[in-house]
Formats: sequence, C-alpha cells, structure tokens
Amino acid sequence: MIARPLVDQERIIRELEELAGFSDTPKPAITRIMYTKPDLEARAYLKNLCMEAGLSLREDGLGNIFARWEGSAPDLSAVGTGSHFDAIPYAGMYDGTVGVLGGLEAIRALQRSGFKPHRSIELLIFTAEEPTRFGIGCLGSRALAGVLTPESLRTLKDNEGRTLEEVRWEAGYMGRLEEVQLPEGYYSAFVELHIEQGPVLEQEQVPLGIVTAIAAPASLRVVLEGAGGHAGAVLMPDRHDALCAAAEIILGVEAFAKNSGSINTVATTGFCEVHPNAVNSIPSRVRLEVDVRDVEQSRRDQVIRSVIQGVEQVCTRREIKYSVEIINIDPPAKSGSEVLKALVGSCGDAGVRFKLMVSRAYHDSLFMARITPTAMLFIPCRGGVSHRPDEYASPEDIARGIYVLALTLAKLSLAEDKAAVRDEPAMPTD
Ligand code: GLV
Ligand code: MN
Ligand code: MN
Repeated sequence: MIARPLVDQERIIRELEELAGFSDTPKPAITRIMYTKPDLEARAYLKNLCMEAGLSLREDGLGNIFARWEGSAPDLSAVGTGSHFDAIPYAGMYDGTVGVLGGLEAIRALQRSGFKPHRSIELLIFTAEEPTRFGIGCLGSRALAGVLTPESLRTLKDNEGRTLEEVRWEAGYMGRLEEVQLPEGYYSAFVELHIEQGPVLEQEQVPLGIVTAIAAPASLRVVLEGAGGHAGAVLMPDRHDALCAAAEIILGVEAFAKNSGSINTVATTGFCEVHPNAVNSIPSRVRLEVDVRDVEQSRRDQVIRSVIQGVEQVCTRREIKYSVEIINIDPPAKSGSEVLKALVGSCGDAGVRFKLMVSRAYHDSLFMARITPTAMLFIPCRGGVSHRPDEYASPEDIARGIYVLALTLAKLSLAEDKAAVRDEPAMPTD
C-alpha cells in the first residue's frame, strides 16, 4: 500500500513562476530556445532543485538531464518521468514545465510521505522538444531513442547555419554523441505529465486525461527560388514572384487537410521567410515550413503527397525553382498497456475521474514509446490554449496531476520484473 503523496501546491506554483523568469521575452510571453542564455539559466535552476531533493545528476552530450532517486534495487531498470522546459517564441509557462517541475514534485511528494522506491525513479529533463532552433522537434528524445543517429546529429544546422556540434560545445556539452542513445532496458516504464493543449478536458469537465496514443507528426521544408527585381519596374507578365507561389502553396496545405475526409487531419504553414523582405522588391526566395499531423498515418501521408504535388504544379506553372525536404515523418505512438493500467489504477486510488484520449500534439513520449512502455497524463488548460502567452493551468489541476503521477511512479517502482510492465501496446481511443 502506498502512502498518500504529500504534494506542495504552493511550492510547485512558485517554482513554475520562477522558471518562467528565464525567458527572452517578458512575462507572460515565454521564449526559451535551446542553449540560449535563458535556457542555460533554467538548466542551472532545475539542476539545483534536483540536487536539493537529493537526486543524483547526470547530463549527456546534448544536455538531456537525468536526476535519479535511487531505489533499493538500483540494478533494475528505472521508472522514468519528465518533459521539456524549452519554449517556442511567445509561448506560455506551462507547456513541458508542468511535467518537469511536476515530475520533480511527484518525487518530493513521495519522499515526504516516506515512500521507499524499489526500482529507481528518474526525472528526465529533455533538451529541445520544440523545433525552433534546429527545425526538428524532440531533438533530445529522438537521440535518446536512437532515431537521430550521431552522424545525423552532426549534420544538423540551426537557423543561422551553425552546426549542432558548434553550439553544444559552446553551451558546455562536450560529451560523446555516441553515448546519448539509451541502452536497451534502461527504463522499465516512462510517464509524462503535460497540459492537454486542447479543449476536451475542460469542455467535458474531466480533471485528467490518460493518453492512449500520440498522433503522427511530420514536417516539410519548401524552398522557392523565383526572380527578384524592382517592384515598380518589372511588369506583371514578366514576374516569377516566389511569395505569390508560396501563397498558393499555403492555401493548398490548408485545403488538403480540410478535404482529407477526417477532422483529425491538421496542417499548418507556421514558418515563412521572405527574401529580401522589402516593400519595393519582388520576393525572390521564400522558405516555408509545413507541419502535417493525423492520428491515422496513411491519411497524414496522403496529405504530404498532395502538398508535394501541389508545390510541383504551382512552381511549374509559375516557372519557379523549388526543393522540398522532409524534415521528419514520424509514426504515431501507442501507449504501453501496463503503464496505462498503473495510471488508471492511480486515478481510482485518488478517486479522480479520467478520460482516455489521444494526444494531437507531439511530445518526447512519442520517442520514449519506441524504447520503453510509455504513457502520458494530461491536465486541463484554460480554453485549450497553448503555445500562447495566455496559456494557463490551475494550481489545483496541476497538483492533482502531480498527485496521480506520484501514485503511478510509486506503483511502477514496486513492479517486480520488467516483464510485468512490458506488454502489447494498447489501441488508441479517440
Ligand atoms: C509540440 O510542441 C507540438 O508542436 O506538438
Ligand atoms: Mn510545445
Ligand atoms: Mn510540450
């Protein structure tokens, strides 16, 4: 029987506020991009809290942080929990951070209640879940899962053309990339606490969501090379305006998703860089980044094919050179059934209602699920708003999520052998 975890609600809210202070934009807008000053300051702040909790710390060559509460069976694979603390430009203060500080608070709550872990419990703080700097999401967890190899990591360049090698060394991370991938069986289970980032829990007035599957994300980079020139002097029939081509492509992206036959298909052109970006100059070069997702992989892939065909057609008609690069095209993840069972059991123990649901946003758990049985726990966020400064989750919802997370970590820590938590993946519930 696990004693009631003693969650310190005031402390976790104070820490979330303090963490929000490490930002390139003033509160409530949070901008914390991989290896920038606020990111490095936030790391120091988080590591200090982990040390205060008596956890042993390790960092890999990318800056993924591991903070371990050693159990009575330290040789058994550990139970992992955690999330990310980077934030896209002008984001809010709860995305990722609730799972980082919440994971730490779950450990502290178990410590306060006198719980003694059998398997070690480890907080994993991921580097760069957001794609802002290198264009690819879940950089840290992809590498941990071996999905991004050391060779491909070495080819990555950021928005300013700087290599990952260059910027990680500058940030003080010099460890070998070959040692980032986690060894087989490192974790027995992984659980990530996160805000829902959608409206369902709030609308249905359900306090917790248990995630059975994560939608399949993909992103493309489209570069269009037209012909620039003087906005007054070049006559309309002679133009090859790269931005006009981009406009048609962007509308195509929207239309292909809308017409996929399912409300579950979403597509967004969230990045558009125009050269030379001057009012009296015809745009000669445009770079677009397109994000396409679906819970159904084949439908997502059909949209991607249509977008690529659309680019070809528009550019051929407008006599514009183009290239399309697939940045990532990931399968969906299904949650591990034993982790789901532990979450469901913990909701029962806590007397909290829950809903089985899919995650439409991606998370580091998408990649953790490739190497260990994984599931996520969602708490409601106001209006379903996320990736915006007005993102908000209530202290009560955060504390409730941490309480159930703590119970779940305790259960999984006491699970005897690895076979007990490895099982066939559960089917998604929509
Ligand atoms: C993660 O932030 C996502 O874009 O789903
Ligand atoms: Mn995010
Ligand atoms: Mn997130």
